[in-house]
Formats: sequence, C-alpha cells, structure tokens
Amino acid sequence: MAVIEQLQSKQSAGQLVINHYSEIGYCYDNLYGGFSSAVISVISRQLQFSSTETVLDIGGGTGEIGHLLSKKYSLQAPVICVDPVESMLEIAKKKEGIETVLATAEKFFSSKESKGKTFSRILVIRCYHHFKDPALVFEGVARMLTQDGVCLLLCTTPDSAPLLFQKARQLFQFVDYPKIVKLVESQGLRARWISDHEKRMLAKEDCFSFLRNRGYSSLSSFTDDEIEDGIKELDEQYKDNTIEAVYTFNIVIITKY
Ligand SMILES: C[S@@+](CC[C@H](N)C(=O)[O-])C[C@H]1O[C@@H](n2cnc3c(N)ncnc32)[C@H](O)[C@@H]1O
Repeated sequence: MAVIEQLQSKQSAGQLVINHYSEIGYCYDNLYGGFSSAVISVISRQLQFSSTETVLDIGGGTGEIGHLLSKKYSLQAPVICVDPVESMLEIAKKKEGIETVLATAEKFFSSKESKGKTFSRILVIRCYHHFKDPALVFEGVARMLTQDGVCLLLCTTPDSAPLLFQKARQLFQFVDYPKIVKLVESQGLRARWISDHEKRMLAKEDCFSFLRNRGYSSLSSFTDDEIEDGIKELDEQYKDNTIEAVYTFNIVIITKY
C-alpha cells in the first residue's frame, strides 16, 4: 500500500474509533461495570498504591478506573485522565478524584503541558490497540515515569469479554506482545508480560446488552441482524440466566530498572 494510502486508512480507522466511543460514552459505565471491577482487582494485585501516588490514566475514557482507584487508596492528587473523546470525558469530569485532558496519547505526550511533569503510576488500560504511534507513547512513558514508578498496560483477550459469539471472536484484534516488549526496551525501560484472571457472575441479559450496544469497537462492523444471530448462538450455548465469566487480561508491567 502506498504511504499516503496507509496514512489515510490509519486516519479513518482513528476516526471510526472516535465515532464509536462518542456514541457509547453515555452508556459505557453500564456496559463495563463488571469489567471495571475486575480490572481494579487485577491492578491492585499487580501494583502497590499509597495515598501519595500520582496517577496518569492514558485513554482513561469515562475515568471509572481512576475514580475507583482514587476512592480505594484515598489518593491525595487527582488522577489525570487523558482521552480524545469528549463524550467519554463528559462522564469522567463529574467523578470525584479525576482531572481530564482532551487528547490522544500521542498528542498528550507531544504537548508542552506534559513536559517536566512526572507520575509514579501510569495506566494504559484497554487502549493500546488504538495507538497510531506506540513508540511515541512509550517515549512519553519513559520521560514521565518517576525513577521508581510503574506503568501498567492492560489488554483484553477474547476471554475478557463476558461473552463473544464465534464471528466476533474471529474479528478480535490480537496485540503483538513481543513487539510491545521490544518497543518498551528500546526506550531503556524494562517490560514484564503476564496474564491475570478474575471471575465474575454476570447476568446473561447484561452480556447481550453489551453486544447490542457494540461494547467493543470491533463489534460496530456487525449489522443488527448479525448481532442478533450471534446472541441466538450464545443463548443456545448458555442455558442459565447467570453466567460465570472468567475475565482474562494480558498485562505488561513497565519499570525503569
Ligand atoms: C475500551 S476504552 C477504555 C477506557 C478506559 N481505559 C477503561 O478501561 O474503562 C478505550 C479508550 O481509548 C480511547 N482512545 C482511542 N484512541 C486513543 C488514542 N490514540 N490515545 C488515547 N486514547 C485513545 C477511546 O476514546 C476510549 O475511551
């Protein structure tokens, strides 16, 4: 593909993502309730927090993860929630312990306001796959992480979603972890890649609502009929109204030493 076409397709993919989250911003926290609580459990297992921690949440969306951490650890400083989608940040702004910045990760790390600031915890939760320039993001992480700080990057797997029908599983964007580790190490940082799991009991109807509302951006390529066919497939597979879901997350722990 010619370079100019590559740039255009990357740009339109970025716009599709912005449009997607603009549409679901108002209901995001309802769709992701179980997910957010599972993520908080995983973060708490993998990272230590004291009330003096300074936290930067890249692609922080509705600020729910930052808000829950702020409450759980009585954080003294607000969590800085950076996200390019206004309707997501509109929700974040209303939450205690959150300060918002409207920008992509790439724009934020290139901006004047990011220069000279440091954070002891940097979170990159479920947004790495949206970055157009991950190298620039890791360069920013290297610059803004305190000497003994930790950056936690968390990605979903097809098993992170409550339920996914077969066609949706096939469309799932897998993240290239060896590539992340290489990019991180090229910034003089250390990276450790692990998996973690959390069990939750979920109402089947909530899982179906997640699919109907295109909780994952990759679900927006399905028509309403295709989603309903997928739901039928799952309804036949899962007979009970409550489902035991095991969220599986892949995590990269990034440090300076
Ligand atoms: C699945 S949501 C995750 C939100 C939040 N981290 C959470 O776990 O609830 C993905 C987020 O990435 C944001 N995003 C998309 N492109 C981005 C970029 N280039 N830089 C930073 N965030 C981006 C979207 O606006 C969206 O809020």
